Amino acid sequence: MLKSNRLPVSVPLATSPLGFMRGVRAMQRNALEMLPPIAFTQPIVSGQILRRFHMVMDPPSIRRILKDAAADYPKSEEAQAMLRPALGNGIFLADGAHWRWQRRAAMPVFAPRNLTALTPVMTEAAEDVSARLDRATGPVDIYPEMMHTAFEVIAAVCMSEDTQIPREMAHKAVDAYLDTAGRASFLDILNVPSFVPRPGRTAARFLIAELKQAADRAIRSRMGREPADPPPLLDLLIGAEDPDTGRKMTAPELRDNLLTFIVAGHETTALALSWSLYLMGFDEEQQERARAEAQEVLGGRAATAEDVPKLKFIRQVIMESMRLYPPLAMLSRTATKPDMLRDREVKPGDVMLLPFYALHRNECLWDNPNGFDPDRFADPKSIDRYAYLPFGTGPRVCIGMDFGLQEATIVLATLLSRFKFTAVPGRVPTPVMILSLRPDGGVWMNVERLS
Ligand code: HEM
Repeated sequence: MLKSNRLPVSVPLATSPLGFMRGVRAMQRNALEMLPPIAFTQPIVSGQILRRFHMVMDPPSIRRILKDAAADYPKSEEAQAMLRPALGNGIFLADGAHWRWQRRAAMPVFAPRNLTALTPVMTEAAEDVSARLDRATGPVDIYPEMMHTAFEVIAAVCMSEDTQIPREMAHKAVDAYLDTAGRASFLDILNVPSFVPRPGRTAARFLIAELKQAADRAIRSRMGREPADPPPLLDLLIGAEDPDTGRKMTAPELRDNLLTFIVAGHETTALALSWSLYLMGFDEEQQERARAEAQEVLGGRAATAEDVPKLKFIRQVIMESMRLYPPLAMLSRTATKPDMLRDREVKPGDVMLLPFYALHRNECLWDNPNGFDPDRFADPKSIDRYAYLPFGTGPRVCIGMDFGLQEATIVLATLLSRFKFTAVPGRVPTPVMILSLRPDGGVWMNVERLS
């Protein structure tokens, strides 16, 4: 078969317009199924379900919404409502001055100097997952392995060793919660009435209550103590002061942020890694290229911060994987002022949907949009900055962008230098967007130790 004819898995799109109930069911099952095929060929698609909405795949308009006129397009309250019970008014959900000072308080953790100090945790996590894969007999579902790995990293970055939250509990709670919150959130954004069920809400809230208690215990045991060196995120947040008011974060605010970082920093990176490994199994030739680079740079060791700049092709694989499967595949905002985007009139109250999944595969912007081609990232300057947004952009751009990329590069390079990954026939994951873009059915691979 010709290489260009082979395409990695994609979301099955509706070929005829979905009626109201079919649309609702699609949103509950997989939010991306509501994308019409024209979202992949046109810059803006407007419509009305219960509210007016615009799906925007046009780089200059996205720049306006997320950056130049970001204050006129806040995160919509409906989109936040389901996440609020878990994440409170932490950095992800807060707005205005309250958001700004929390962002400033967390920034030092992600400064380049501190980032280098954090990478030994990533190298250690790469060693741990290598050891787990070494013990595997038979095919492995890579996705839970990557979740485990990313959780170890984020937990170590957030909290000192003596104040950890049990991993299994956090996993279960965050997973169940995102599953229900995610299924409901697009229904909420489009004002679908509450008689349309949002199943699982109660059970997930119970699990989240348990997780909050564990986070509260971690915070109580940390407050009033000297910060560790280097200080984990929690210690920095405990010490942070609002420069305008001089106030410090209360214990509930600390907890909201701790959980925000655990949620935002864990599944996203695990997904980037899982989809990258799926693609490596899909295209063994590219896997060989990536392995050759990793082996040459690492010579059998696990990757460290110093290796990252040399792992250029590994990084291209990760970038291309986040183009095809952006971990956060769709953001939403609400218009608060009248505006014009291209020829489209935007009215206050309109919902702005930013489906990065369709932006990253839009025919106006990409050659062979559904094909896997890491070489398109060989020269990052050749990519339109607003056509590729796995980390968002503007003031709310992902605070953990460099961190996530560094972690993904270290783990992927280490694994490819040591193991060969082969797809298990008949077990292809389906990309399902709940809140994040998960590989439904798992990423099953045969994993062979190379030396
Ligand atoms: C490959 C990995 C990652 C991807 C694809 C990703 C993606 C994103 C995106 C798209 C946003 C913007 C959301 C919006 O504008 O509505 C965001 C925000 C955020 N991310 Fe990430 N993220 C990743 C890793 C991380 C990591 C490792 C951390 C923390 C250690 C993190 C923490 C956050 C936080 C706190 C925000 C909210 C920032 C704010 O509103 O000021 N993310 N992320």
